[in-house]
Amino acid sequence: MTRSASDAGAQPGPFMELFGCSGGAGVPALRDLSQQAVAHALARALAHVPGHAPVSTAAGGASCGVTGDATGDAPWPLAVDGTAGNGHDTLFLARLVGVRGLVHAFDVQPRALARTAERLAAVGLEERVALHGRGHEELAAALASRGIWPPHITAAMFNLGFLPGSDRSVTTRTETTLAALEALLPLMAPGGVVSLHVYAGHPGGGDEAAALDRRLAELDWNLWRVARYEFANKPRNPERLLLVLRLPGPV
Ligand SMILES: C[S@@+](CC[C@H](N)C(=O)[O-])C[C@H]1O[C@@H](n2cnc3c(N)ncnc32)[C@H](O)[C@@H]1O
Repeated sequence: MTRSASDAGAQPGPFMELFGCSGGAGVPALRDLSQQAVAHALARALAHVPGHAPVSTAAGGASCGVTGDATGDAPWPLAVDGTAGNGHDTLFLARLVGVRGLVHAFDVQPRALARTAERLAAVGLEERVALHGRGHEELAAALASRGIWPPHITAAMFNLGFLPGSDRSVTTRTETTLAALEALLPLMAPGGVVSLHVYAGHPGGGDEAAALDRRLAELDWNLWRVARYEFANKPRNPERLLLVLRLPGPV
């Protein structure tokens, strides 16, 4: 394709800024893409909170249309970390939801919850997170017991597989991951994003990846966009990122 005069002068877009990461210089790591997608969704949501200074990302502003409970006393925006693990993603979300927001973080391993709690406490953000010591497949029941129903979730992250440096037999599983997804999708706010980082190299991981592909391929194009990113030449520990956008529009 020929570049137009206006293209020639264009500034690098947000994805072009992601250099030097594990994907190789100039190729964003899947983790970076995931973080960028959820950061954009949360920044758009925060643009609706009266008096809140928009977070500085290339989020595109309120016109992109994350709607929901920006007024009132309930926490807003809401985010979910489906697999808290060592707490990196939970902390990332806690920073982004702002002072009025809340992250619901799930893990089945007490050790993971302890590490996550420690990580949050170290930076004083523990009050922005509800830690759930139960499986993400119980997401609906867990959220129903902790606030307004139905919640409108702006961002959700699932970093699947097993906890690095821990018991590899405790991994996410196809049935429970799918159950969590089914519970989550109807709760997503318009403009909200679900990020699923999927590892196919461990036992059960390939089935989990294939099942997610099949289920997400069924989502209505008029309501959702599903994008899949993967390295075409990564023979060991294959990984992929699924980004699921609930299109902006009325709740
Ligand atoms: C790859 S690790 C998550 C890493 C984490 N996001 C971080 O930032 O460090 C996957 C985690 O999923 C957890 N897990 C496994 N099955 C689960 C389930 N049904 N519900 C919630 N968490 C689960 C494991 O205990 C493990 O800690």
